Amino acid sequence: MKHACKLDYPVDMSFLTEARITPLRDYARLQRYSKGLPGDYEKLFEIGWCAKNKTVSNEDLFIDQLPSELLRRERPYVLYLELPAVDTANPVLPAHRDYGKKTSINIYLEASGEVTTFYHWNREKQQSEFEEEFCAATNEIWMMDTDTPHSVTLKQNQARRLFSFCFAKLRYNEVLECFKTK
Ligand SMILES: [Fe+2]
Repeated sequence: MKHACKLDYPVDMSFLTEARITPLRDYARLQRYSKGLPGDYEKLFEIGWCAKNKTVSNEDLFIDQLPSELLRRERPYVLYLELPAVDTANPVLPAHRDYGKKTSINIYLEASGEVTTFYHWNREKQQSEFEEEFCAATNEIWMMDTDTPHSVTLKQNQARRLFSFCFAKLRYNEVLECFKTK
């Protein structure tokens, strides 16, 4: 895959039980990348569905577990992301590029077979074209290129939660390098 890979890297998540998880911001804006792609967007907006970004009070305990070479290049910030359950037939986190991060390392705390799809933005046609997709299981760790348009096909009535190390500057390949040389 070009834009995501599963990481075989242990992170002790036990500190999460002592963490204060605080709402930071909700996100529910449609970007151009979702134009023409499937999903019950109208229903989602009607009910005020949004992605919830939260902070984690003891994030340093997690960040310090990452490879030192990676931390030397950029110290990431942490977000606890929640996609609330929704009772609609085709819920989807619409195709988007993330604001404020180029790359993320996600630890999936609660997953139910959701599929993340990457797209190539065709400037001439002004539409997203399928590139590749992956499906992360609970407790898996995946690195992904959040600067490339991506959507997440959700499961009806299933919430999704993940813990995310976010890199504002380092690109996907640069983060990946730090794991290869470890
Ligand atoms: Fe994203």
